[in-house]
Amino acid sequence: MKIVIPKETRAGETRVAASPQVIQKLVGLGYDVAVEKGAGEGASVSDDVYKAAGASIATGAAAVKSADIVLMVNPPATSGAGALPAQMKKGAVLISQLAALTSPDDVAAYAKAGITTFAMELVPRISRAQSMDVLSSQANLAGYRAILEAAAEYGRGIPMMMTAAGTVPPAKAFIMGVGVAGLQAIATAKRLGAVVTATDVRPATKEQVESLGGKFLVVDPEMEKDAQTEGGYAKEMPKEYYDKQKQVVAEHIKKQDIVVTTALIPGRPAPKLITKEMVASMQAGAVIVDLAVEAGGNCELSQPGKTITTPNGVKIVGLTNLPGRLAQTASDLYAKNLLNFLTPLTDKEKKGTLAIDWDDEIVKGCCVTRDGEVVNARVKDAMGAKAPAKKPAAKKTAAKKADDKPAETSDDKTQDAAQDKGN
Ligand code: NAI
Repeated sequence: MKIVIPKETRAGETRVAASPQVIQKLVGLGYDVAVEKGAGEGASVSDDVYKAAGASIATGAAAVKSADIVLMVNPPATSGAGALPAQMKKGAVLISQLAALTSPDDVAAYAKAGITTFAMELVPRISRAQSMDVLSSQANLAGYRAILEAAAEYGRGIPMMMTAAGTVPPAKAFIMGVGVAGLQAIATAKRLGAVVTATDVRPATKEQVESLGGKFLVVDPEMEKDAQTEGGYAKEMPKEYYDKQKQVVAEHIKKQDIVVTTALIPGRPAPKLITKEMVASMQAGAVIVDLAVEAGGNCELSQPGKTITTPNGVKIVGLTNLPGRLAQTASDLYAKNLLNFLTPLTDKEKKGTLAIDWDDEIVKGCCVTRDGEVVNARVKDAMGAKAPAKKPAAKKTAAKKADDKPAETSDDKTQDAAQDKGN
């Protein structure tokens, strides 16, 4: 089977879904691998390096047309001249981050094109799938980079320095939200010599913060007892909690030099943790890096893609795609996640061929569309009426017999769904 890695088309994206090491492994698994010309430029990988690893270099859309499997970092364009799913063969496989829970129009386009899609962000967070977890691999880098961005904007040193000219006090860093990104931000700030405090609604994080040498800022242990879902994510908290959190944070933040916010609640806008009054109370030269800016922001004043300076001299960094600012490492880890996902889907005997167990928990968790239908329960729920309806069983069987082509009805239904969206 042929795997194609196109050049990413999202504006400003530097990452690529393949590394030379992973290409070698994919070739070893028996796949024929093609990388689009210049796809690795942003991550400092030349076409020659990909060629030496065993890939061929493809130009333009022709490669995608012949692909059995397409690997990407971001969801492809689904409309306009460059729309990718419509160019792919029916039944071909797209593996990428798809933002599937929040992009109903894209999902409908995948179904309409008859391609099989796997959304890497939906890979279940079970032990067996840890090596496939793109959310973790990229969030870890974002947390690291957030501290480096803060250090670059901060006009003073981070560690305590005792010099002949006087002693420089260590910077105080405060991390809000201690998931994957927050933990790496704590570790990085500690390595640079900052005095670190952190807070989170999930009580389990207290021990994690302390094990990294940070001090935990407690808000309300009683209310926090019920702050975590079974899956380990934060729940939306009651208003009283947020009010209390604001009081505690308002006192603490005045004395902080660097603040990194990473707080997210799945499926909800990011909680607003830093008000404009809190920013106004901070010292000139302090820096806030808002990693949640793409989900609405944890700070009331942060703006996506911009670094602003407030009238009282606080810098608020709203950079997006921080993993993309470490393009080489981010691409290496992302490509490794894809390899770890693809390896168990590959036929053990017939090299270079997929043999997918559709009942496997990981496959079920992240397969979004197949045979012209949206097959993922979470995505269907999120799409509501927009999901192409399930085909009647009899027609499905008939369609399967007809050379596995999607039933005519599926395209019709996708068109209906698309029309619904337009209303
Ligand atoms: P996330 O990106 O969804 O959220 C970041 C952090 O923000 C979380 O720690 C959350 O508790 C916190 N938060 C939400 N509201 C807040 C508020 N008002 N104030 C302060 N903090 C707030 O989280 P991420 O990084 O995806 O991790 C979520 C969970 O998944 C964690 O329990 C983590 O340990 C777990 N996990 C499990 C993995 C596995 O088993 N394979 C892999 C990675 C993470």
